[in-house]
Amino acid sequence: MSQRAFSRRRFLQGAAGATAGLAIPGHLSALWPSVAAAPAAAGAQPLTIAKRFAPIVPRFPHILHGGDYNPDQWIERPDILQEDIGLMEKAGCNTFSVGIFAWVRLEPEEGRYTFDWLDGVLDRIAAKGWNVFLATPSGAKPQWMSLKYPEIKRVGRDGRRAFHAFRHDHCQTSPIYRRKVQEINTRLAERYAKHPALAGWHVSNEYSGDCFCDLCLARFRDWLRGRYNTLDALNQAYWSGFWSQTLTAWEQIEPRETPLDGLRLDWLRFTTDQTVDFMKHEIAPLRRLTPDTPVTTNMMGTFHGLDYWRFTDVCDRMAWDAYLFFHDDNAWKAAAGAGFTNDIYRAMKGGRPFLLMESTPSSTNWYHTPTLKKPGQHEQEMLLAIGHGADTTMYFQWRKGRGGFEKFHGAVVDHEGSDKGRVFQDVAAHGALLKKLDAIVGTSVKPEVAVLFDWEVRWALAMSEGPRQNADWRGWGPFEKEYNETAVEHYRPFWKLGIPVDVIESTRPLDAYKLVVAPMLYMLKPGVAEKLRTFVQAGGTLVLTYLSGIVNETNLCLPGGWPGAGLRELAGVWAEELDSIASDSPQRLVAKAGNALGLTGDFPVKTYCDRIHAEKADVLATYQSDFYAGQPALTVNRFGKGRCYYVAARPADDTLHDALVRGLVREIGLARALDVDLPEGTTVQMRSGDGEVFLFLHNFRREARVVDLKAQRLTDLVTGETLTGKVTLPAFASRVLRKG
Ligand code: GAL
Repeated sequence: MSQRAFSRRRFLQGAAGATAGLAIPGHLSALWPSVAAAPAAAGAQPLTIAKRFAPIVPRFPHILHGGDYNPDQWIERPDILQEDIGLMEKAGCNTFSVGIFAWVRLEPEEGRYTFDWLDGVLDRIAAKGWNVFLATPSGAKPQWMSLKYPEIKRVGRDGRRAFHAFRHDHCQTSPIYRRKVQEINTRLAERYAKHPALAGWHVSNEYSGDCFCDLCLARFRDWLRGRYNTLDALNQAYWSGFWSQTLTAWEQIEPRETPLDGLRLDWLRFTTDQTVDFMKHEIAPLRRLTPDTPVTTNMMGTFHGLDYWRFTDVCDRMAWDAYLFFHDDNAWKAAAGAGFTNDIYRAMKGGRPFLLMESTPSSTNWYHTPTLKKPGQHEQEMLLAIGHGADTTMYFQWRKGRGGFEKFHGAVVDHEGSDKGRVFQDVAAHGALLKKLDAIVGTSVKPEVAVLFDWEVRWALAMSEGPRQNADWRGWGPFEKEYNETAVEHYRPFWKLGIPVDVIESTRPLDAYKLVVAPMLYMLKPGVAEKLRTFVQAGGTLVLTYLSGIVNETNLCLPGGWPGAGLRELAGVWAEELDSIASDSPQRLVAKAGNALGLTGDFPVKTYCDRIHAEKADVLATYQSDFYAGQPALTVNRFGKGRCYYVAARPADDTLHDALVRGLVREIGLARALDVDLPEGTTVQMRSGDGEVFLFLHNFRREARVVDLKAQRLTDLVTGETLTGKVTLPAFASRVLRKG
């Protein structure tokens, strides 16, 4: 993998968080006041969770603070390793992921193990009463292993086996690699099972990628046999008569180049299953030797290549690495994007607090313009994660290495080596603040709103040629059809209003929610359409959009008019045609006078405009121009005891999203975390448990903002101050408050 590919991979993984902050025109921020003025549902109280979750490390009921610690790079400097402990104490750190890429230091030659240096590290950390997430080192294989067993290296789409190269590039099928991983993991588990520092397993690092070696291809064919049983069923599922692609033997299956979008989709499913299987294999000795030690692996946010929902049963805790492009006028957008991803990781385990496993204490070395965090922004970024349900704030990395790819990447300890720098001081200040937040540990959120975000839906859309052109026709690249961005756009209005949201896969149960927003539900997995109908029938409110109910789970178009599989009746609309519009299109959506959502005026739209027929639905807005001017663009249909909205065009900015959500909040009676106007650039998150409610109030602007709490009285958890009436939040400031 070249350096360019390395950066590109990074671009992919930040899609919902980081890139969300890249391109907001300054004038859009001026739109926020209209949202801030949204009337909250009168008297509605946010739901709270009855009982806290157990702390991530049960014997350590504090927010975990620390990060990746790579003492294996400093073995020749025992003085530095000793110094680290004093600095860690000064920084208020207590938890470290150790040995992530240390395989060659643990096994310098086959079968010769050298654990003494690691013993020392764990002992020093244990002596302080701190915690180690001990890593399994499978993320980077030693050179000697690649040389002796070439099969462990990946084969690319072009059929060539890779060089030893970088990291994260082993074949997940290779029996030899699997055996080697189990051997080293067994040794680690045997040696450290009873070590007082061992708090959890940090399994591998950021699993990713695929391999096209003969072993993987054979395994894929077996996987397909298991899924379809017969070639006939597979041919039908893929519509393989197209371009004479009909398969007459299993050996003909070729996932590398294919016009069959169902096959492309299955390759991604297989890659996920194979990675999960690799992880299960990898953790088998850990489960056997340390049955009570939780297992997690660090994930890359909304990374395209793996369906992270499939890991939720394998991991005891969910963890992700957040690298926010987080500064200046765009900070709130990056924060909202990160909020979205945080809400996925919390929802993955039914509200259980997750781990923010990596973040940068300053800037990265791989962003194009790695702007420094401004004063206040470090604390704010950490509190943002905690407010959404993280019980850890951890960094990559503790100390900067002197060489290699990451020597310029931010770290707590700089090359200068002391505690004097601004970054260290920011981290230490955060460490000190965390000492006052023990009451937060194990609390969580119980949202009334769910936004659906489903990797398979996203893949199906990305793998399909059209309805608009893919920049990369194979759909492997980052140029998918903005599924992520669209989901975040639908999420943002709730976040601005301080309304808790779960971001969930389309197959998850919906009964806990009053409102479900399903942006671009292009593919309907089995049972999803029925579940949505049941949800609305029983009184729920559903928001569907253009490009919904188009294909089944093998990417075959659904017959009988879109949105298909019964959603046409649910939405009361037939989406006859989808218009793709140019970026300078004047098309707008015009609110109908007296519409039920109280929308007024007109709103710009972009990218997609469905030409729909309101078969049963009421029309709330129409198109302004082109040959379909005056035709429906936004509708609502009563179905059973509930309602289904259909947004036929993609809003070009936040105005329509904000207005729509404002109307829904009023109509459904959704509760906000804090029932006050939130001025532009501010937001509030809530966590609760055991009768306590905590609020995280943020100002993401570089100017101060005033929030009027009116008669509400809140206690600052850090200063002990009682707040009421008008509260000034300085630039990039956050406060953690106790309600009641
Ligand atoms: C992460 C990775 C770390 C480090 C970091 C740099 O993706 O897990 O090992 O490379 O990026 O930002």
